[in-house]
Amino acid sequence: MRLYQIPKPEGIDSLLLREAPMPKPGRGQVLVRMRAASLNYRDLMVLTGRYARGAPLPDLVPLSDGAGEVAEIGPEVTRVKPGDRVAGIFMQSWLGGEAEPADAASSLGGAIHGVLAEYAVFEQTGLVHLPAHLSFEEGATLPCAAVTAWNALYGGRPLIAGQSVLVLGTGGVSVFALQLAHAAGARVIATSSSDAKLARAKALGASDGVNYRQQPEWQQAVLALTGGRGVDHVVEVGGPGTLPRSIEAARPGGQIHLIGVLAGPAGEINPTTAMRKGLILRGIYVGSRQMFEAMNQAIALHRLHPVIDRVFDFEAAREAFRHLQGQTHLGKVVVRIQ
Ligand SMILES: NC(=O)c1ccc[n+]([C@@H]2O[C@H](COP(=O)([O-])OP(=O)(O)OC[C@H]3O[C@@H](n4cnc5c(N)ncnc54)[C@H](OP(=O)(O)O)[C@@H]3O)[C@@H](O)[C@H]2O)c1
Repeated sequence: MRLYQIPKPEGIDSLLLREAPMPKPGRGQVLVRMRAASLNYRDLMVLTGRYARGAPLPDLVPLSDGAGEVAEIGPEVTRVKPGDRVAGIFMQSWLGGEAEPADAASSLGGAIHGVLAEYAVFEQTGLVHLPAHLSFEEGATLPCAAVTAWNALYGGRPLIAGQSVLVLGTGGVSVFALQLAHAAGARVIATSSSDAKLARAKALGASDGVNYRQQPEWQQAVLALTGGRGVDHVVEVGGPGTLPRSIEAARPGGQIHLIGVLAGPAGEINPTTAMRKGLILRGIYVGSRQMFEAMNQAIALHRLHPVIDRVFDFEAAREAFRHLQGQTHLGKVVVRIQ
């Protein structure tokens, strides 16, 4: 079988397509014939050596997000059977409750080998069934970006119909947050660098759009749209570069879901405004299997379809990474495996 490996994380060209022996599932394990995988910003960080805390795993197989069908099961496997359509969970050991530090050591395509491969072996506990109405390509977009958006909206003090949600940009996490919040009856305000993307965000259910390039003080526009009060939730994917404005854009007692670092990993934050407004700042690290399964129920109920920007062939995985890096996408970038 073929798989991609990263011998040294030195950029997109360090991604190599190689042959490897067919893996065999052991006790409690499942061999999955991978059909599709999807990319996250995090995978670019992995590929450029900006992600791993310690030394990266030698010849790491990249990507956390993939879907496929069960090809073979090992002894004592009861959760799935051959032919089942499944996806891996981001942290293989985080099944429910709060994440423990050890769970981070089970993240696919980071701490352990990932899914950009024709076949992969998972512990049976590390899989969920795909919603029946989704293709493998759509299912492959769920494990990181969608579960992160779900955790933001429902993992803390849950979103309530009629509340407002601000999503920053139109990348994978933000578009899932838009779709899930819209399905829940919330008002969604989206920001983007592009008017064309804002038009598409509105077609997906956003009620308002703010171009953060044209309006660098975009938090003022968000306040104006909410009668000066601010939004109930901010899906914060920018990090220190956007957080001060997100704090201003949140209503008193609102929640800011700390997710990403798209606007740079470092910067100074003055907590005074957050303190005076009684904001809840909640860190998010993807989510558990329990959250993934709850989200899948909602996706199935509302027949939501993930927004796929472009699908690349397996042999063109490097092009997929370049496309993600270019940030012209809206939603998810997918690799079709077989
Ligand atoms: N904590 C977690 O568990 C977790 C999970 C998933 C992702 N993340 C993090 O969340 C972030 C988003 O991940 P992703 O995979 O969704 O990324 P992505 O798909 O690569 O998002 C790219 C988009 O983000 C928008 N963007 C870039 N810079 C921006 C800025 N300064 N302000 C507002 N929007 C900006 C742009 O949208 P426009 O072109 O529309 O402006 C861009 O196209 C990343 O930092 C990622 O590492 C964290």
